Amino acid sequence: MLKSSSLLFLLSLTWLATACYYDVEEELYPTLECLTDNVNYSEEVLSIITTNCYSCHNAASNFGNITLEGYAALKVQVDNGKLLKVIRHEAGVSPMPKNQPQMVACDIAKIEAWVAAGAPNN
Ligand code: HEC
Repeated sequence: MLKSSSLLFLLSLTWLATACYYDVEEELYPTLECLTDNVNYSEEVLSIITTNCYSCHNAASNFGNITLEGYAALKVQVDNGKLLKVIRHEAGVSPMPKNQPQMVACDIAKIEAWVAAGAPNN
């Protein structure tokens, strides 16, 4: 009798620990850490694009005849709809960053929020 109730106790502890672990890793963490309010160009967007895209798309490298250097150049790709399509790996465009995994979800979410806000030059 004692044995089986302690086993049950241990099992429920394990279940609780597992449940908390998955809450933190898969649901709570990204929501708490990825802030998409008032995303600005000058710090957040510029830094994401510089890190992930400038190696091929600054004014000098200009791969595929596309530069993303500077607000005006990036805005062209916002307005023609390609920026979001390439980073979301949607059909009909070449997925970016080329030959690399998709950018981390939070970076994509920030760019999406910035575009949804009208892609301000702030
Ligand atoms: C390793 C080089 C490389 C990186 C890094 C890269 N690109 Fe590209 N990109 C290319 C090349 C080359 C093309 C021309 C099309 C092709 O060959 O796939 C291209 C094409 C594009 C196009 C036009 C796509 C189309 O189908 O018309 C857009 C928009 C674009 N890139 C945006 C980005 C963005 C945004 C990033 C960063 C998230 C990025 N690229 C990172 C190499 C790169």
